[in-house]
Amino acid sequence: MIEKYSFRRYHMENIKKVLIPETDLKFRVKELAQEISRDYKGETVTLICILSGASVFFADLVRELDLDVRFEFMSVSSYGSGTVSSGEVKILKDVNHPIAGQNVIIVEDIIDSGCTLSYLKRVLDQRSPKSIKVCTILDKPSRRKVDFKGDYVGFEIPDEFVIGYGLDYDGRYRNLRDVCVLEITED
Ligand code: PRP
Repeated sequence: MIEKYSFRRYHMENIKKVLIPETDLKFRVKELAQEISRDYKGETVTLICILSGASVFFADLVRELDLDVRFEFMSVSSYGSGTVSSGEVKILKDVNHPIAGQNVIIVEDIIDSGCTLSYLKRVLDQRSPKSIKVCTILDKPSRRKVDFKGDYVGFEIPDEFVIGYGLDYDGRYRNLRDVCVLEITED
């Protein structure tokens, strides 16, 4: 167990290491925000937070943006969880307002197989936004099942099970300040 998390009230015996410390996350989020603020200077941007994983990154990113923004929240889930993913995504909660004619940035915590974002981007693109881009704090390119590239990417990471900074394992660990690697033990 990592010393710094030993005081927490959770069972965290299986946190193997810190992959991206809080300080690096903060620095990179500022850089991403500066890049986005430059690219959309003078424009209004609708930021769509994909619940729940992106919530922590979203909250940090939006406060660093020097732009006129609107917030939207979506919740999605993959069909057929636990078995082979069809790449189909079910929209559990949609945006509250139409996005036609707007600059849209989808904000995610991680691109893994790429199935979620490739589907979501296609669906949202059919609603005639002025522009649509994707911003993610983490990217695991080695896991791609479909060809997909984020427009703003915080960190490319290896194929390890990561938790913290919004990412969960079985609903837990989202509130860790660092991105950590979870040790998966087979029963
Ligand atoms: C995660 C993540 C992305 C998706 C990425 O969501 O937030 O939405 O998986 O995976 P993909 O590239 O293989 O499609 P998850 O279903 O774990 O939900 P959560 O955000 O609520 O944790």
